[in-house]
Amino acid sequence: MENLAQYADWAYLIGAILFILALRGLSSPASAIMGNRYGMIGMGLAVAATFVVVGSLHGAAVALKPAYALILGAMVLGAVIGIYRAKTVPMTQMPETVAMMHSLVGLSAVLIAIAAVLNPSSHHDAIHRFELFVGCFIGAITFSASVFAYGKLAAKKWAKSMKGGWVKPVQIVLALGMLGFGAGYFFTESMNYFYVMTACALVLGYFWIGPIGGGDMPVVVSLLNSFSGWAAAGIGFTLNNSMLIIAGSLVGSSGAILSYVMCRAMNRSLFNVLFGGFGAAAAGAADDGEKKEKNYRAGSPEDAAFMMSNADSVVIVPGYGLAQARAQNAVKELGDLLKEKGVKVSYAIHPVAGRMPGHMNVLLAEADVPYEDVKEMDEINSDFAATDVVLIIGANDVVNPAAKNDPSSPIYGMPILEAQRARTVMVIKRSMNPGYAGLDNDIFYMDKTMMIFGDAKKVAEDILKGLSGGGH
Ligand code: TAP
Repeated sequence: MENLAQYADWAYLIGAILFILALRGLSSPASAIMGNRYGMIGMGLAVAATFVVVGSLHGAAVALKPAYALILGAMVLGAVIGIYRAKTVPMTQMPETVAMMHSLVGLSAVLIAIAAVLNPSSHHDAIHRFELFVGCFIGAITFSASVFAYGKLAAKKWAKSMKGGWVKPVQIVLALGMLGFGAGYFFTESMNYFYVMTACALVLGYFWIGPIGGGDMPVVVSLLNSFSGWAAAGIGFTLNNSMLIIAGSLVGSSGAILSYVMCRAMNRSLFNVLFGGFGAAAAGAADDGEKKEKNYRAGSPEDAAFMMSNADSVVIVPGYGLAQARAQNAVKELGDLLKEKGVKVSYAIHPVAGRMPGHMNVLLAEADVPYEDVKEMDEINSDFAATDVVLIIGANDVVNPAAKNDPSSPIYGMPILEAQRARTVMVIKRSMNPGYAGLDNDIFYMDKTMMIFGDAKKVAEDILKGLSGGGH
Protein backbone atom coordinates (compact mmCIF):
# COMPACT_ATOMS: atom_id res chain seq x y z
CA MET A 1 0.00 0.00 0.00
CA GLU A 2 2.84 2.41 0.88
CA ASN A 3 4.42 1.75 -2.54
CA LEU A 4 1.21 2.61 -4.26
CA ALA A 5 0.72 5.76 -2.18
CA GLN A 6 3.67 7.46 -3.89
CA TYR A 7 1.59 7.48 -7.08
CA ALA A 8 -1.37 9.13 -5.37
CA ASP A 9 -0.24 12.63 -6.36
CA TRP A 10 -0.08 11.53 -9.99
CA ALA A 11 -3.60 10.12 -9.71
CA TYR A 12 -4.74 13.43 -8.19
CA LEU A 13 -3.05 15.35 -10.99
CA ILE A 14 -4.74 13.23 -13.69
CA GLY A 15 -8.02 13.57 -11.79
CA ALA A 16 -7.63 17.35 -11.73
CA ILE A 17 -6.95 17.42 -15.49
CA LEU A 18 -10.09 15.32 -16.02
CA PHE A 19 -12.05 17.84 -13.93
CA ILE A 20 -10.81 20.66 -16.15
CA LEU A 21 -11.86 18.65 -19.23
CA ALA A 22 -15.23 18.06 -17.53
CA LEU A 23 -15.75 21.81 -17.08
CA ARG A 24 -14.78 22.39 -20.69
CA GLY A 25 -17.27 19.73 -21.80
CA LEU A 26 -20.04 21.21 -19.68
CA SER A 27 -19.70 24.56 -21.44
CA SER A 28 -21.82 23.30 -24.34
CA PRO A 29 -24.91 21.05 -24.31
CA ALA A 30 -23.43 19.03 -27.20
CA SER A 31 -20.33 18.02 -25.22
CA ALA A 32 -21.94 17.98 -21.75
CA ILE A 33 -22.39 14.20 -21.56
CA MET A 34 -18.71 13.65 -22.37
CA GLY A 35 -17.83 16.34 -19.83
CA ASN A 36 -19.84 14.51 -17.18
CA ARG A 37 -17.99 11.28 -17.96
CA TYR A 38 -14.61 12.98 -17.57
CA GLY A 39 -15.80 14.29 -14.22
CA MET A 40 -16.95 10.84 -13.08
CA ILE A 41 -13.67 9.19 -14.09
CA GLY A 42 -11.71 11.98 -12.36
CA MET A 43 -13.74 11.56 -9.18
CA GLY A 44 -13.38 7.74 -9.32
CA LEU A 45 -9.62 8.15 -9.60
CA ALA A 46 -9.55 10.62 -6.70
CA VAL A 47 -11.56 8.28 -4.47
CA ALA A 48 -9.33 5.30 -5.35
CA ALA A 49 -6.18 7.36 -4.66
CA THR A 50 -7.62 8.49 -1.32
CA PHE A 51 -8.19 4.86 -0.32
CA VAL A 52 -4.56 4.13 -1.07
CA VAL A 53 -3.40 7.19 0.87
CA VAL A 54 -5.52 6.18 3.87
CA GLY A 55 -3.95 2.71 3.66
CA SER A 56 -0.42 4.11 3.69
CA LEU A 57 -1.21 6.39 6.65
CA HIS A 58 -2.27 3.57 8.92
CA GLY A 59 0.25 0.96 7.85
CA ALA A 60 -1.13 -1.97 9.79
CA ALA A 61 -3.97 -3.83 8.13
CA VAL A 62 -5.81 -4.10 11.44
CA ALA A 63 -6.01 -0.33 11.91
CA LEU A 64 -7.25 0.04 8.35
CA LYS A 65 -10.47 -1.80 8.85
CA PRO A 66 -12.34 0.85 10.85
CA ALA A 67 -11.09 3.66 8.56
CA TYR A 68 -12.20 1.82 5.43
CA ALA A 69 -15.47 0.81 7.05
CA LEU A 70 -16.18 4.44 7.89
CA ILE A 71 -15.33 5.68 4.39
CA LEU A 72 -17.26 2.91 2.66
CA GLY A 73 -20.22 3.27 5.00
CA ALA A 74 -20.40 7.03 4.34
CA MET A 75 -20.04 6.47 0.59
CA VAL A 76 -22.79 3.86 0.45
CA LEU A 77 -25.12 6.01 2.56
CA GLY A 78 -24.39 9.09 0.44
CA ALA A 79 -24.80 7.13 -2.80
CA VAL A 80 -28.15 5.65 -1.73
CA ILE A 81 -29.53 9.06 -0.71
CA GLY A 82 -28.06 10.70 -3.82
CA ILE A 83 -29.42 8.11 -6.27
CA TYR A 84 -32.84 8.18 -4.61
CA ARG A 85 -32.93 11.99 -4.74
CA ALA A 86 -31.71 12.11 -8.35
CA LYS A 87 -34.34 9.62 -9.45
CA THR A 88 -37.25 11.20 -7.63
CA VAL A 89 -36.62 14.95 -7.80
CA PRO A 90 -38.86 16.67 -10.35
CA MET A 91 -37.06 19.03 -12.71
CA THR A 92 -38.97 21.93 -11.13
CA GLN A 93 -37.29 21.23 -7.79
CA MET A 94 -33.73 21.18 -9.14
CA PRO A 95 -32.78 24.70 -7.98
CA GLU A 96 -33.59 24.00 -4.35
CA THR A 97 -31.90 20.59 -4.61
CA VAL A 98 -28.74 22.26 -5.90
CA ALA A 99 -28.90 24.79 -3.04
CA MET A 100 -29.29 21.91 -0.57
CA MET A 101 -26.25 20.13 -2.02
CA HIS A 102 -24.14 23.27 -1.61
CA SER A 103 -25.15 23.33 2.04
CA LEU A 104 -23.63 19.86 2.53
CA VAL A 105 -20.26 20.97 1.16
CA GLY A 106 -20.35 23.92 3.57
CA LEU A 107 -21.26 21.65 6.49
CA SER A 108 -18.45 19.22 5.73
CA ALA A 109 -15.96 22.12 5.63
CA VAL A 110 -17.11 23.17 9.10
CA LEU A 111 -16.94 19.65 10.52
CA ILE A 112 -13.51 18.95 9.05
CA ALA A 113 -12.18 22.27 10.34
CA ILE A 114 -13.50 21.49 13.84
CA ALA A 115 -12.05 17.97 13.69
CA ALA A 116 -8.68 19.40 12.60
CA VAL A 117 -8.67 22.00 15.37
CA LEU A 118 -9.57 19.35 17.95
CA ASN A 119 -6.98 16.85 16.69
CA PRO A 120 -4.51 16.61 19.57
CA SER A 121 -1.74 15.16 17.42
CA SER A 122 -1.47 18.08 15.04
CA HIS A 123 0.22 21.38 15.78
CA HIS A 124 -1.35 24.43 14.09
CA ASP A 125 1.06 27.12 13.03
CA ALA A 126 -0.17 30.62 12.13
CA ILE A 127 -0.82 29.79 8.45
CA HIS A 128 -2.70 26.62 9.37
CA ARG A 129 -4.81 28.46 11.95
CA PHE A 130 -5.64 31.09 9.35
CA GLU A 131 -6.71 28.38 6.83
CA LEU A 132 -8.87 26.70 9.45
CA PHE A 133 -10.53 29.92 10.51
CA VAL A 134 -11.25 31.13 6.95
CA GLY A 135 -12.28 27.65 5.66
CA CYS A 136 -14.60 27.18 8.62
CA PHE A 137 -16.40 30.52 8.37
CA ILE A 138 -16.82 30.24 4.58
CA GLY A 139 -18.21 26.72 5.14
CA ALA A 140 -20.54 27.91 7.91
CA ILE A 141 -21.90 30.82 5.85
CA THR A 142 -22.30 28.50 2.84
CA PHE A 143 -24.21 26.00 4.98
CA SER A 144 -26.77 28.27 6.58
CA ALA A 145 -27.16 30.53 3.52
CA SER A 146 -27.75 27.48 1.29
CA VAL A 147 -30.31 26.04 3.70
CA PHE A 148 -32.16 29.38 3.67
CA ALA A 149 -31.85 29.61 -0.15
CA TYR A 150 -33.32 26.10 -0.32
CA GLY A 151 -36.22 27.23 1.88
CA LYS A 152 -36.88 30.30 -0.24
CA LEU A 153 -36.74 28.44 -3.54
CA ALA A 154 -38.99 25.69 -2.15
CA ALA A 155 -41.33 28.41 -0.79
CA LYS A 156 -41.07 27.07 2.78
CA LYS A 157 -42.91 29.03 5.45
CA TRP A 158 -39.80 29.39 7.65
CA ALA A 159 -37.84 31.05 4.84
CA LYS A 160 -39.70 34.34 4.54
CA SER A 161 -37.82 37.39 3.18
CA MET A 162 -36.49 39.76 5.83
CA LYS A 163 -37.31 43.41 5.41
CA GLY A 164 -36.48 46.49 7.43
CA GLY A 165 -33.67 48.76 8.46
CA TRP A 166 -32.65 46.46 11.33
CA VAL A 167 -31.25 43.75 9.04
CA LYS A 168 -28.07 45.56 7.94
CA PRO A 169 -26.89 46.47 11.48
CA VAL A 170 -27.46 42.84 12.52
CA GLN A 171 -25.40 41.66 9.54
CA ILE A 172 -22.58 44.08 10.44
CA VAL A 173 -22.54 43.04 14.11
CA LEU A 174 -22.45 39.36 13.13
CA ALA A 175 -19.67 39.92 10.57
CA LEU A 176 -17.60 41.86 13.12
CA GLY A 177 -18.29 39.18 15.75
CA MET A 178 -17.21 36.45 13.35
CA LEU A 179 -13.96 38.22 12.45
CA GLY A 180 -13.28 39.26 16.05
CA PHE A 181 -13.71 35.77 17.51
CA GLY A 182 -11.79 34.33 14.54
CA ALA A 183 -8.91 36.66 15.39
CA GLY A 184 -9.29 35.58 19.03
CA TYR A 185 -8.79 31.95 18.00
CA PHE A 186 -5.90 32.90 15.71
CA PHE A 187 -3.98 34.57 18.52
CA THR A 188 -4.93 32.37 21.49
CA GLU A 189 -5.84 28.99 19.90
CA SER A 190 -8.85 28.94 22.21
CA MET A 191 -11.44 26.45 21.04
CA ASN A 192 -14.22 28.54 22.59
CA TYR A 193 -13.40 31.45 20.30
CA PHE A 194 -13.48 29.04 17.37
CA TYR A 195 -16.95 27.78 18.30
CA VAL A 196 -18.37 31.30 18.79
CA MET A 197 -16.81 32.39 15.48
CA THR A 198 -18.51 29.42 13.77
CA ALA A 199 -21.85 30.25 15.42
CA CYS A 200 -21.60 33.91 14.27
CA ALA A 201 -20.85 32.72 10.70
CA LEU A 202 -23.82 30.32 10.75
CA VAL A 203 -26.23 33.06 11.85
CA LEU A 204 -24.63 35.56 9.45
CA GLY A 205 -25.33 33.22 6.48
CA TYR A 206 -28.99 33.19 7.47
CA PHE A 207 -29.23 36.96 7.83
CA TRP A 208 -27.23 37.57 4.67
CA ILE A 209 -29.67 35.63 2.45
CA GLY A 210 -32.74 36.84 4.35
CA PRO A 211 -33.23 40.19 2.60
CA ILE A 212 -32.27 38.90 -0.86
CA GLY A 213 -35.21 37.64 -2.83
CA GLY A 214 -37.01 37.56 -6.14
CA GLY A 215 -34.96 38.01 -9.26
CA ASP A 216 -31.63 37.86 -7.47
CA MET A 217 -31.84 34.26 -6.26
CA PRO A 218 -30.10 32.80 -9.34
CA VAL A 219 -27.01 34.86 -8.64
CA VAL A 220 -27.11 33.85 -4.99
CA VAL A 221 -27.35 30.13 -5.85
CA SER A 222 -24.40 30.45 -8.21
CA LEU A 223 -22.43 32.40 -5.63
CA LEU A 224 -23.13 29.74 -3.01
CA ASN A 225 -21.84 27.22 -5.53
CA SER A 226 -18.65 29.28 -5.68
CA PHE A 227 -18.47 29.47 -1.87
CA SER A 228 -18.89 25.72 -1.57
CA GLY A 229 -15.91 25.36 -3.92
CA TRP A 230 -13.74 27.69 -1.83
CA ALA A 231 -14.84 25.85 1.30
CA ALA A 232 -13.74 22.56 -0.32
CA ALA A 233 -10.41 24.16 -1.27
CA GLY A 234 -10.08 25.24 2.38
CA ILE A 235 -10.62 21.61 3.44
CA GLY A 236 -7.94 20.67 0.92
CA PHE A 237 -5.43 22.93 2.70
CA THR A 238 -6.49 21.55 6.08
CA LEU A 239 -6.04 17.96 4.90
CA ASN A 240 -3.02 18.82 2.75
CA ASN A 241 -4.85 17.31 -0.24
CA SER A 242 -3.88 18.82 -3.59
CA MET A 243 -6.85 17.27 -5.41
CA LEU A 244 -9.36 18.99 -3.13
CA ILE A 245 -7.54 22.28 -3.46
CA ILE A 246 -7.61 22.10 -7.26
CA ALA A 247 -11.21 20.79 -7.52
CA GLY A 248 -12.43 23.32 -4.94
CA SER A 249 -10.71 26.18 -6.74
CA LEU A 250 -12.24 25.08 -10.05
CA VAL A 251 -15.73 25.08 -8.54
CA GLY A 252 -15.02 28.31 -6.66
CA SER A 253 -13.79 30.22 -9.68
CA SER A 254 -16.34 28.85 -12.16
CA GLY A 255 -19.17 29.71 -9.72
CA ALA A 256 -17.74 33.20 -9.27
CA ILE A 257 -17.47 33.68 -13.05
CA LEU A 258 -21.06 32.46 -13.52
CA SER A 259 -22.26 34.91 -10.83
CA TYR A 260 -20.43 37.71 -12.63
CA VAL A 261 -21.91 36.71 -16.02
CA MET A 262 -25.41 36.64 -14.49
CA CYS A 263 -24.95 40.04 -12.86
CA ARG A 264 -23.85 41.40 -16.21
CA ALA A 265 -26.93 39.77 -17.80
CA MET A 266 -29.08 41.66 -15.28
CA ASN A 267 -27.01 44.85 -15.59
CA ARG A 268 -26.26 44.85 -11.85
CA SER A 269 -23.14 44.81 -9.75
CA LEU A 270 -22.46 41.82 -7.51
CA PHE A 271 -22.25 44.15 -4.51
CA ASN A 272 -25.67 45.60 -5.33
CA VAL A 273 -27.19 42.10 -5.66
CA LEU A 274 -25.73 40.90 -2.36
CA PHE A 275 -26.31 43.97 -0.25
CA GLY A 276 -28.93 45.98 -2.13
CA GLY A 277 -32.02 43.88 -1.33
CA PHE A 278 -33.34 44.52 -4.88
CA GLY A 279 -35.04 41.14 -5.23
CA ALA A 280 -37.10 41.66 -2.11
CA ALA A 281 -38.06 45.14 -3.23
CA ALA A 282 -39.06 43.84 -6.64
CA ALA A 283 -41.16 41.07 -5.14
CA GLY A 284 -42.76 43.57 -2.82
CA ALA A 285 -43.63 45.82 -5.74
CA ALA A 286 -46.42 43.46 -6.77
CA ASP A 287 -48.20 43.87 -3.46
CA ASP A 288 -47.81 47.61 -3.29
CA GLY A 289 -48.44 48.41 -6.96
CA GLU A 290 -51.88 49.69 -7.89
CA LYS A 291 -53.81 47.34 -10.15
CA LYS A 292 -54.63 49.19 -13.36
CA GLU A 293 -57.41 47.99 -15.63
CA LYS A 294 -55.78 47.22 -18.95
CA ASN A 295 -57.15 45.45 -21.96
CA TYR A 296 -55.72 42.32 -23.41
CA ARG A 297 -56.77 39.97 -26.18
CA ALA A 298 -57.36 36.27 -25.50
CA GLY A 299 -57.34 33.56 -28.17
CA SER A 300 -57.67 29.79 -28.42
CA PRO A 301 -55.06 27.11 -29.18
CA GLU A 302 -56.80 26.65 -32.55
CA ASP A 303 -56.26 30.36 -33.38
CA ALA A 304 -52.60 29.95 -32.45
CA ALA A 305 -52.25 26.81 -34.60
CA PHE A 306 -53.80 28.58 -37.58
CA MET A 307 -51.58 31.65 -37.27
CA MET A 308 -48.41 29.67 -36.75
CA SER A 309 -49.02 27.31 -39.64
CA ASN A 310 -49.26 30.39 -41.87
CA ALA A 311 -46.05 31.94 -40.52
CA ASP A 312 -42.61 31.74 -42.11
CA SER A 313 -40.76 31.96 -38.82
CA VAL A 314 -41.65 31.12 -35.22
CA VAL A 315 -39.46 31.75 -32.18
CA ILE A 316 -40.40 29.82 -29.04
CA VAL A 317 -39.50 31.52 -25.73
CA PRO A 318 -39.66 29.03 -22.85
CA GLY A 319 -39.80 30.17 -19.23
CA TYR A 320 -40.44 28.83 -15.76
CA GLY A 321 -44.04 27.86 -16.63
CA LEU A 322 -42.75 25.37 -19.21
CA ALA A 323 -40.78 23.63 -16.46
CA GLN A 324 -43.69 23.84 -14.07
CA ALA A 325 -46.05 22.22 -16.59
CA ARG A 326 -43.41 19.73 -17.85
CA ALA A 327 -44.38 20.82 -21.33
CA GLN A 328 -40.97 20.34 -22.99
CA ASN A 329 -41.89 17.21 -24.97
CA ALA A 330 -45.17 18.64 -26.24
CA VAL A 331 -43.34 21.84 -27.23
CA LYS A 332 -40.64 19.86 -29.07
CA GLU A 333 -43.37 17.99 -31.00
CA LEU A 334 -45.00 21.32 -31.78
CA GLY A 335 -41.70 22.69 -33.08
CA ASP A 336 -41.09 19.56 -35.18
CA LEU A 337 -44.56 19.71 -36.73
CA LEU A 338 -44.12 23.38 -37.61
CA LYS A 339 -40.78 22.55 -39.23
CA GLU A 340 -42.46 19.80 -41.25
CA LYS A 341 -44.84 22.46 -42.47
CA GLY A 342 -41.89 24.54 -43.68
CA VAL A 343 -41.85 27.04 -40.81
CA LYS A 344 -38.42 28.13 -39.50
CA VAL A 345 -38.41 27.36 -35.77
CA SER A 346 -35.92 28.54 -33.13
CA TYR A 347 -35.90 28.45 -29.33
CA ALA A 348 -34.74 31.59 -27.51
CA ILE A 349 -33.01 31.16 -24.15
CA HIS A 350 -32.59 33.88 -21.55
CA PRO A 351 -29.70 33.26 -19.10
CA VAL A 352 -32.00 33.47 -16.05
CA ALA A 353 -35.18 31.94 -17.51
CA GLY A 354 -36.66 29.37 -15.13
CA ARG A 355 -35.26 28.93 -11.66
CA MET A 356 -31.66 27.81 -12.11
CA PRO A 357 -28.77 28.48 -14.48
CA GLY A 358 -29.27 26.52 -17.69
CA HIS A 359 -32.79 25.44 -16.65
CA MET A 360 -34.28 25.86 -20.13
CA ASN A 361 -31.28 24.29 -21.87
CA VAL A 362 -31.65 21.22 -19.67
CA LEU A 363 -35.37 20.87 -20.38
CA LEU A 364 -34.98 21.33 -24.11
CA ALA A 365 -32.06 18.88 -24.18
CA GLU A 366 -34.20 16.37 -22.26
CA ALA A 367 -36.81 16.66 -25.00
CA ASP A 368 -34.12 16.22 -27.72
CA VAL A 369 -34.54 19.66 -29.24
CA PRO A 370 -31.61 19.99 -31.71
CA TYR A 371 -28.86 22.19 -30.22
CA GLU A 372 -28.57 24.22 -33.42
CA ASP A 373 -32.20 25.41 -32.98
CA VAL A 374 -31.50 26.71 -29.48
CA LYS A 375 -30.29 30.33 -29.51
CA GLU A 376 -28.85 32.36 -26.66
CA MET A 377 -30.21 35.86 -25.95
CA ASP A 378 -27.46 37.85 -27.69
CA GLU A 379 -27.70 35.67 -30.76
CA ILE A 380 -31.49 35.82 -31.21
CA ASN A 381 -32.37 39.39 -30.14
CA SER A 382 -31.56 40.87 -33.55
CA ASP A 383 -33.88 38.29 -35.23
CA PHE A 384 -37.11 39.17 -33.37
CA ALA A 385 -38.00 42.17 -35.58
CA ALA A 386 -38.04 39.87 -38.61
CA THR A 387 -39.95 37.06 -36.84
CA ASP A 388 -43.59 36.39 -37.74
CA VAL A 389 -44.69 34.78 -34.48
CA VAL A 390 -43.04 34.61 -31.09
CA LEU A 391 -44.62 31.97 -28.85
CA ILE A 392 -43.91 32.73 -25.18
CA ILE A 393 -44.51 29.63 -23.08
CA GLY A 394 -44.67 30.23 -19.34
CA ALA A 395 -42.11 33.07 -19.49
CA ASN A 396 -42.74 36.48 -18.03
CA ASP A 397 -39.90 38.50 -16.43
CA VAL A 398 -37.41 37.57 -19.15
CA VAL A 399 -39.61 39.22 -21.82
CA ASN A 400 -40.73 42.23 -19.75
CA PRO A 401 -40.07 45.38 -21.86
CA ALA A 402 -40.11 47.50 -18.65
CA ALA A 403 -36.52 46.34 -18.21
CA LYS A 404 -35.70 48.34 -21.35
CA ASN A 405 -38.25 51.16 -21.33
CA ASP A 406 -39.18 52.04 -17.76
CA PRO A 407 -36.39 53.62 -15.68
CA SER A 408 -38.62 53.40 -12.58
CA SER A 409 -38.96 49.62 -12.87
CA PRO A 410 -36.94 47.56 -10.36
CA ILE A 411 -35.69 45.44 -13.25
CA TYR A 412 -34.69 48.44 -15.40
CA GLY A 413 -31.40 47.71 -17.14
CA MET A 414 -31.75 43.91 -17.10
CA PRO A 415 -31.28 42.60 -20.65
CA ILE A 416 -34.39 40.81 -21.95
CA LEU A 417 -35.41 38.69 -24.90
CA GLU A 418 -36.91 41.37 -27.13
CA ALA A 419 -39.97 39.33 -28.03
CA GLN A 420 -42.12 42.49 -28.20
CA ARG A 421 -40.47 43.32 -31.52
CA ALA A 422 -41.94 40.29 -33.36
CA ARG A 423 -44.88 40.83 -35.74
CA THR A 424 -47.23 38.72 -33.60
CA VAL A 425 -46.78 37.75 -29.96
CA MET A 426 -48.54 34.76 -28.37
CA VAL A 427 -48.33 34.08 -24.65
CA ILE A 428 -49.28 30.81 -22.99
CA LYS A 429 -49.90 31.13 -19.24
CA ARG A 430 -52.69 30.36 -16.83
CA SER A 431 -53.71 33.86 -15.77
CA MET A 432 -52.62 37.50 -15.81
CA ASN A 433 -50.57 36.93 -12.66
CA PRO A 434 -47.03 38.30 -12.52
CA GLY A 435 -43.87 36.17 -12.65
CA TYR A 436 -41.09 35.71 -10.13
CA ALA A 437 -40.15 39.40 -9.77
CA GLY A 438 -43.79 40.24 -9.04
CA LEU A 439 -44.12 42.80 -11.84
CA ASP A 440 -46.83 43.46 -14.39
CA ASN A 441 -45.75 42.99 -18.00
CA ASP A 442 -46.78 45.38 -20.80
CA ILE A 443 -46.10 42.77 -23.46
CA PHE A 444 -49.43 41.11 -22.51
CA TYR A 445 -51.39 44.27 -23.38
CA MET A 446 -49.98 45.08 -26.83
CA ASP A 447 -52.39 45.12 -29.78
CA LYS A 448 -50.37 42.42 -31.52
CA THR A 449 -50.40 40.10 -28.48
CA MET A 450 -52.73 37.13 -28.06
CA MET A 451 -53.00 35.52 -24.63
CA ILE A 452 -53.75 31.79 -24.62
CA PHE A 453 -54.77 30.85 -21.11
CA GLY A 454 -54.18 27.41 -19.65
CA ASP A 455 -51.55 24.99 -18.44
CA ALA A 456 -48.57 25.12 -20.83
CA LYS A 457 -48.58 21.38 -21.56
CA LYS A 458 -52.31 21.20 -22.20
CA VAL A 459 -52.27 24.29 -24.44
CA ALA A 460 -49.21 23.02 -26.37
CA GLU A 461 -50.99 19.68 -26.93
CA ASP A 462 -54.13 21.49 -28.08
CA ILE A 463 -52.10 23.62 -30.52
CA LEU A 464 -50.54 20.38 -31.78
CA LYS A 465 -54.01 18.94 -32.43
CA GLY A 466 -54.94 22.15 -34.26
CA LEU A 467 -51.76 21.97 -36.33
CA SER A 468 -52.29 18.31 -37.20
CA GLY A 469 -55.65 19.27 -38.68
CA GLY A 470 -54.46 22.33 -40.69
CA GLY A 471 -51.97 22.87 -43.58
CA HIS A 472 -49.37 25.45 -44.55
P1 TAP B 1 -41.38 34.02 -14.44
O1 TAP B 1 -41.13 35.46 -14.64
O2 TAP B 1 -41.31 33.48 -13.07
O3 TAP B 1 -42.80 33.71 -15.08
C1 TAP B 1 -43.25 32.41 -15.21
C2 TAP B 1 -44.68 32.48 -15.69
O4 TAP B 1 -45.07 31.14 -15.96
C3 TAP B 1 -45.63 33.03 -14.65
O5 TAP B 1 -46.03 34.35 -14.98
C4 TAP B 1 -46.80 32.04 -14.63
O6 TAP B 1 -47.99 32.72 -14.95
C5 TAP B 1 -46.45 31.05 -15.74
N1 TAP B 1 -46.73 29.67 -15.35
C6 TAP B 1 -46.45 29.05 -14.18
N2 TAP B 1 -46.89 27.78 -14.22
C7 TAP B 1 -47.45 27.59 -15.44
C8 TAP B 1 -48.06 26.49 -16.06
N3 TAP B 1 -48.21 25.30 -15.45
N4 TAP B 1 -48.52 26.64 -17.32
C9 TAP B 1 -48.40 27.84 -17.95
N5 TAP B 1 -47.83 28.92 -17.41
C10 TAP B 1 -47.34 28.79 -16.15
O7 TAP B 1 -40.39 33.12 -15.33
P2 TAP B 1 -39.25 33.52 -16.35
O8 TAP B 1 -39.76 34.47 -17.38
O9 TAP B 1 -38.66 32.21 -16.77
O10 TAP B 1 -38.22 34.32 -15.48
C11 TAP B 1 -37.48 33.71 -14.48
C12 TAP B 1 -37.56 34.54 -13.22
O11 TAP B 1 -37.09 33.74 -12.15
C13 TAP B 1 -36.70 35.77 -13.27
O12 TAP B 1 -37.25 36.80 -12.51
C14 TAP B 1 -35.40 35.25 -12.66
O13 TAP B 1 -34.59 36.28 -12.17
C15 TAP B 1 -35.97 34.36 -11.55
N6 TAP B 1 -35.07 33.28 -11.12
C16 TAP B 1 -34.29 32.68 -12.01
C17 TAP B 1 -33.44 31.69 -11.61
C18 TAP B 1 -32.54 31.09 -12.65
S1 TAP B 1 -31.01 30.79 -12.30
N7 TAP B 1 -32.98 30.88 -13.83
C19 TAP B 1 -33.44 31.25 -10.27
C20 TAP B 1 -34.32 31.86 -9.36
C21 TAP B 1 -35.14 32.89 -9.81
P3 TAP B 1 -49.41 32.09 -14.47
O14 TAP B 1 -49.31 31.94 -13.01
O15 TAP B 1 -50.40 33.10 -14.92
O16 TAP B 1 -49.55 30.79 -15.18
